[in-house]
Amino acid sequence: MERLYFDYNATTPLLPEVLDAMLPYLKEDYGNPSSIHHFGQQARAAVEQARAQVAASINCRPNEIVFTGGGTEADNLAVFGAVRAAVARGPGPKHVITSAIEHHAVWNACQALEKEGAEVTYLPVGSRGIVSIDDVRRALGPETALVTVMYANNEIGAIQPVAEIAQLARAHGALAHTDAVQAVGKIPVDVKALGVDLLTLSGHKICAPKGVGALFVRRNTLLQPLSYGGHHERDRRAGTENVAGIVGLGRAAELARQSLAAESRRLAALRDRLERGVLEKVPDTTVNGDPLHRVPNTSNLRFDYVEGEALVIALDLKGVACSTGAACSSGAIEPSHVLTAIGLRPEQARASLRFSLGRQTTEEQVDRLLQILPGVVAHLRELSPVYKR
Ligand SMILES: Cc1ncc(COP(=O)(O)O)c(C=O)c1O
Repeated sequence: MERLYFDYNATTPLLPEVLDAMLPYLKEDYGNPSSIHHFGQQARAAVEQARAQVAASINCRPNEIVFTGGGTEADNLAVFGAVRAAVARGPGPKHVITSAIEHHAVWNACQALEKEGAEVTYLPVGSRGIVSIDDVRRALGPETALVTVMYANNEIGAIQPVAEIAQLARAHGALAHTDAVQAVGKIPVDVKALGVDLLTLSGHKICAPKGVGALFVRRNTLLQPLSYGGHHERDRRAGTENVAGIVGLGRAAELARQSLAAESRRLAALRDRLERGVLEKVPDTTVNGDPLHRVPNTSNLRFDYVEGEALVIALDLKGVACSTGAACSSGAIEPSHVLTAIGLRPEQARASLRFSLGRQTTEEQVDRLLQILPGVVAHLRELSPVYKR
């Protein structure tokens, strides 16, 4: 069966160029970058080249890049690292501002910080899925150590006003972090223009491998490490570097930067084709979130009277891979916190699916999806006791 992949926000396939760049470091160039002999120096040079590639892709200095074991670790390093550094500087409770639609890597880190005694404000987003600058301004106070608002949301693609948020945060003496995992490769990510102190990116969302990511840490930013060991990554992240993964991340970041303008135009056209087709062919369907302020590859669609999980499974049986935003916890399908934050009722959130497009998505694949989807939705609705025929 022909398989169609529409889940690039979950993960992306490795690009052949990325794999080619990595292979020597999984084979003959296996040195430890901390070793002073030839093998070590080869590996060190590769890590530093990748650092320069990643830095160029977000417009920072190479020594402001800290390689991590993925986006989650980079988010945790930013959130815990910033707040614990603030606690170490002075007594008193510390305050963090974040949004109601963060990825769990930030959200659950904030929840854990609350248990450590920090106070956390979760800003609402409204139906467009976008944080209000006035809400940020109102929430900021003398105790605010960190403002962390994601650049692009993983479920609905909403783009946040990160530059304005960072400006406000820094004016109040707080650090500004943004999780840009879903922004890199889709929209320009420039840390100077954004004015943030900390920015997260992840390899496997940009056609590099899983388990590698990076945190941009502006020079002189006080940050406590998450773990202790050797003096790797300028004492910000202990542990022997994942050389091949880092090389892959560097190459993927470079390729993403080179193709950004053309690729984001291409993806937006495919996404619009998909949405036009679905809205035309499937009744009682709505696009969730703001259709304008979002990354070009993400479409979150609500198919009323359908259980999203059932639709994902039915589509999978036809060879189509997509996802719901739902998190499955203790056997119960919780409605997505992002979709409920933009005002959807639980049953509407559960009726929503995310289609996310990427490098290998073609017009033919979108058209094939448009042939398959209407029949599958209609079939599930026929089985639904609440669907009005
Ligand atoms: C917005 C966002 N942040 C963080 C992460 C976590 O990144 P990783 O899978 O590399 O740990 C993801 C991945 O789903 C994401 O979409």
